[in-house]
Amino acid sequence: MSTQPAPKKRITIHELRRMKEAGDPIAMVTAYDATAARLVATAGVDVVLVGDSLGMAVQGHDSTLPVTLDQMVYHSAMVRRGLDRAAARAHLVGDLPFGSYQAGVDDAVRAAMKLVAEGGVQAVKLEGGADYHEVIRRIVRAGVPVMGHIGLTPQSVHKMGGYVVQGKDSEKAQQILKDARALAAAGCYAVVLECIPVELARIVTSQLAIPTIGIGAGPHVDGQVLVLNDLLGLDTSFTPKFVKRFAELGPAVEGAVAAYVGEVKARTFPADEHGFHSASVRLVPAPIEDDHEEPQGGVMGAPI
Ligand code: KIV
Repeated sequence: MSTQPAPKKRITIHELRRMKEAGDPIAMVTAYDATAARLVATAGVDVVLVGDSLGMAVQGHDSTLPVTLDQMVYHSAMVRRGLDRAAARAHLVGDLPFGSYQAGVDDAVRAAMKLVAEGGVQAVKLEGGADYHEVIRRIVRAGVPVMGHIGLTPQSVHKMGGYVVQGKDSEKAQQILKDARALAAAGCYAVVLECIPVELARIVTSQLAIPTIGIGAGPHVDGQVLVLNDLLGLDTSFTPKFVKRFAELGPAVEGAVAAYVGEVKARTFPADEHGFHSASVRLVPAPIEDDHEEPQGGVMGAPI
């Protein structure tokens, strides 16, 4: 008999649309492995994103650009297993990484299908606006739901000249609104709005029938997303303005490991309760290949 919890029906793109219509906020967070997936799903998130932010959060790069499609598949499959083992309902989205969809529509469709087939995601996310209309249309036509991502798009960091707030003047704000409409028209089922003014995010949200998920876009959106490492306070060296640290796990982890190191050095760990004992067992001396060593026997379990 299986010891795994019974599977529940996963949250679909239609359910997310109903949440917007009903005014129920959508809670989305990133996860990059099975343990994190199980924890965030048990905590009640609606959407789990295997973001290419793993390039910075996990791999130690200073941008998302080096992340490959194979790595996204690898992490997505781990997260899929974590959600399944927790019998979680959370909707699972995977990022199409830099270079997997920009060069052509056929590449993009193949990449999206690979992430679904091998990574087990229900949908893919890609960065870009109206220019990606055809790419999105074709991925959706192949049966893969697409979440858009506009505003600050980290894969275009060099074009943007850094990780800076987007859409601050009328012309740029107008372009973001146009991009948002183009994504919805192309068939996106939701769109991430990253680092845009609160006022613009409110207008975009009110004009779209599909849910908007904000990060650094204020409260007038249909849902919020944060990078898990940020909300857990794992890295306290830099916290963007839009992040709230809901815990201080970085210092907590350092404290726990420092206590372990201290006990190993002081020989206070492991204590007796961490070891295994046996009844008194007599060991017969075994022949030793090395003729320089004398055969040794002993009694296990006897007092030393
Ligand atoms: O890669 C990522 O984690 C993201 C979110 C920040 C939206 O794209």
